Amino acid sequence: MKLKALNGFKDIIPGEVELWQAVETTARQTFARFGFSEIRMPVLEKTELFARSIGEATDIVEKEMYTFVDKQITMRPEATASLLRAYLEHGLHVQKPVQRLFTIGPMFRHERPQKGRLRQFHQMDVEVLGAESPLVDVELMAMGAMLLDQLGLSVSLELNSLGCPDCRPAFRKNLLSFINERIEALCDDCKRRSNTNPLRVLDCKNRGCRHQVEEAPSIQDHLCSGCADHFQAVQNGLQQLGVKYSLNKFMVRGLDYYTRTTFEFITGDLGAQAAVGAGGRYDGLIERLGGPAVPGIGFALGMERLILLLQQKDETSSANHCDLFVAGLGEAAANLAFSLVHTLRGNGLSVLMDLEGRGLKNQMKQANRAGAGHVLIIGEDELSKGQGILRNMVTQEQQEIPLSDPNLDQQATIDALLAIING
Ligand code: HAM
Repeated sequence: MKLKALNGFKDIIPGEVELWQAVETTARQTFARFGFSEIRMPVLEKTELFARSIGEATDIVEKEMYTFVDKQITMRPEATASLLRAYLEHGLHVQKPVQRLFTIGPMFRHERPQKGRLRQFHQMDVEVLGAESPLVDVELMAMGAMLLDQLGLSVSLELNSLGCPDCRPAFRKNLLSFINERIEALCDDCKRRSNTNPLRVLDCKNRGCRHQVEEAPSIQDHLCSGCADHFQAVQNGLQQLGVKYSLNKFMVRGLDYYTRTTFEFITGDLGAQAAVGAGGRYDGLIERLGGPAVPGIGFALGMERLILLLQQKDETSSANHCDLFVAGLGEAAANLAFSLVHTLRGNGLSVLMDLEGRGLKNQMKQANRAGAGHVLIIGEDELSKGQGILRNMVTQEQQEIPLSDPNLDQQATIDALLAIING
């Protein structure tokens, strides 16, 4: 029996991993420019943390969590709850009134796997804790948009406000009476949700349900004055920075902790899995987790979806690259090459060589496959002359490089190679 990865779990192998690294590097640079520091949390947490933050009546908590029932611990289905737990546990709120934190890592949800939807997936998650201003909401969305733009992706931003505990109950009541008038036409899930979580009826994927709720009341018309002002200020700020967005009254999000601003970065190029990233404000959550009354807002981008979009855009996934391949032919040359390669690596170059005593043709093939910028050829002739041949693999130009005895100082060889390769 062949052993395979679990359904919905995926290896990221060489050839693909370079794209992941490139996306992460761009993200880290962008996050740093906006003043974010990295934080890393464990993937296992107490089940209670997610039940209390994401909400008991959500799909995630009801049916998608990987929980060790006997131990009451759960593989994190998202990063926000764990990050807040760490923030409180280490007193980060005492150290600085406003914390800007990001984390990158795997999350686990037992969903039906399909393109862009996995059971182990990766998020790049950012959170700002301790800031109430609508300008923070603006800045976060602008940062997300800037990062997606830098990755060369064209994605649209959808915006909503979910109000607060002051204004949402009245809207919920209003929505419920609208839903009850057409309850028989809704799917079984929505019938159930109308009791537990009626706002979720608004974003049901079922076509019949979508049609039924087209004329549903909009929460944007039911905001209290504080939430309405905040929502207006967010929109003004987005316009000021030239960040394009559209309002979406149906966006309610699948996690219960949101208040006021919610947003999603949407693509039309991934079929059903349209959200490449999403987030919003969660004032009140930190308090519910036992902390002080500190407001919070954040979002997470789904790595797999970003990678799929980038692969669709550019079929040529980033090729291998190494600075130098040293082709040593014969025992003495291979022996010299062995120590030379080690020293060059210590000097910061990425260098490969063949360790199996293969011939020149085969070694040149290996150099090509590795994407080597240069190849240094050392055969018996070169050894006796004390001059190796360095070939530029792009221009095919060749030049001589001084060689020294492997037991002696190789500085002249190293200096010559570094000067040419580092340009
Ligand atoms: P979320 O909408 O559940 O929000 O997930 C955020 C992003 O993670 C999605 O837009 C999607 O790109 C990716 N994602 C989610 N589930 C999967 C999956 N099964 N397979 C592949 N990608 C997936 C959150 O998780 C919130 N914690 C975001 C947040 C941060 N809100 C405030 N701060």
